[in-house]
Amino acid sequence: MDKIIVRGGHALRGTIPISGAKNATLPALAATLLTGERVHLSNIPHLKDVTTMLELLGQHGSAITIDEKLGVEIDNSQVNNFRAPYDLVRTMRASILVMGPLVARHGQAEISLPGGCAIGSRPVNLHIEGLRKMGAQISLDEGYIRAKAKRLRGARIYLNPVTVTGTENLMMAAALADGRTVLENAAREPEVTDLAIFLNKMGARIQGAGTSTIIIDGVEELRGTQHRIIPDRIETATFMVAAAVTHGDITLTDTDAESLESPIQKLRESGVVIEIQDAGRIRVSAPDPLLPVNLETCPYPGFPTDLQAQMLVLDSLAQGVSVITETVFENRFMHVSELQRLGADIRVHGNVAEVHGVDHLLGAPVMATDLRASASLVLAGLAAEGATTISRVYHIDRGYERIEEKLQALGADIQRTSG
Ligand code: UD1
Repeated sequence: MDKIIVRGGHALRGTIPISGAKNATLPALAATLLTGERVHLSNIPHLKDVTTMLELLGQHGSAITIDEKLGVEIDNSQVNNFRAPYDLVRTMRASILVMGPLVARHGQAEISLPGGCAIGSRPVNLHIEGLRKMGAQISLDEGYIRAKAKRLRGARIYLNPVTVTGTENLMMAAALADGRTVLENAAREPEVTDLAIFLNKMGARIQGAGTSTIIIDGVEELRGTQHRIIPDRIETATFMVAAAVTHGDITLTDTDAESLESPIQKLRESGVVIEIQDAGRIRVSAPDPLLPVNLETCPYPGFPTDLQAQMLVLDSLAQGVSVITETVFENRFMHVSELQRLGADIRVHGNVAEVHGVDHLLGAPVMATDLRASASLVLAGLAAEGATTISRVYHIDRGYERIEEKLQALGADIQRTSG
């Protein structure tokens, strides 16, 4: 199995481009199931999760043409299999995103329940209840969600707690439903807005995406179109933290500073200098020492839970004590015990991490436990003295495109080894 070896202590310098957003790509790929006409998507990142979603579409009967530079073209005129099998769903929970489109256009879907997950129980009850409200008949059978509906009908649906993929699944389903659907307490993430823009290009009638009330007037059918996926805000901020903890000076291009208001504010609080050259180009440099920052993860526009692990590394190297509170997921501090192996002083009390900054971290062998946790280990390795060997790096390949190549381009000493 692949490992990543990082030898820390090099200040990162240089310019790298940011990839398309994983969390915008996955729903957009699922949304192509809503039409039988060809759809073209560009700025698709090369990631394991994207390959998994393409494999899932392939199983449903999608014809997919991949052009490394131009993106993917998908033809769903021959979709004939409505089952998302356990083997794929268990590797990627976002597979549940095909449920809404399949039921809306084909009247049926059979989706494996996602099962266990390293960051808490993560149920999908809101996806199911929402479709039920839209008239789908749903049963749970042998580990599968079986959903059927002649035609979905519009409904008023209140989502509690706020759910990103739940909002996306129901928005896609509602696009082809009979009548008006109102999603209340909807997720406001930029990826939800990007999906709404894409669906509207396909002929959907969606208003209010980006606010907590989304109104969808169902249409009879959707058509083919082209769409460019937005930049990955989590990848962008991960590189910003990399610059911060190595006291480097880097420029990120092809990104979108507007979607990063809260992380930029927190990084500035820690003393990091962030220059937004234009919305798509951000220069980041960092002084030594860094200042500790307190934060609480929240749904957008709050501080993203997908950056919590990375900020723990920053706070571990800051001068003073800070508190990080995780409110979105239970059990999302799995990376703490690995960071402690490098010398971090982090004390977890329930969903609160109390971080006592240390002078330096020391390289050690560590194990990635989930996608964002593995990014935090790479960041810690970049800042640590000596070598950090990270195993189970398949987690990082799910969400970061060519991370070691991008870091090498910034002067990091990072290698991947197999075996
Ligand atoms: C998405 C992102 C993930 C990010 C998360 C929170 C994708 C593909 N993934 O995941 O990277 O970490 O948003 O920003 O976009 N919940 C329920 N019932 C449900 C659904 C969710 O109780 O039916 C709860 C979850 O357990 C969690 C909270 O709602 O506590 C938020 O989860 P949700 O927004 O649904 O996360 P995902 O959409 O799975």
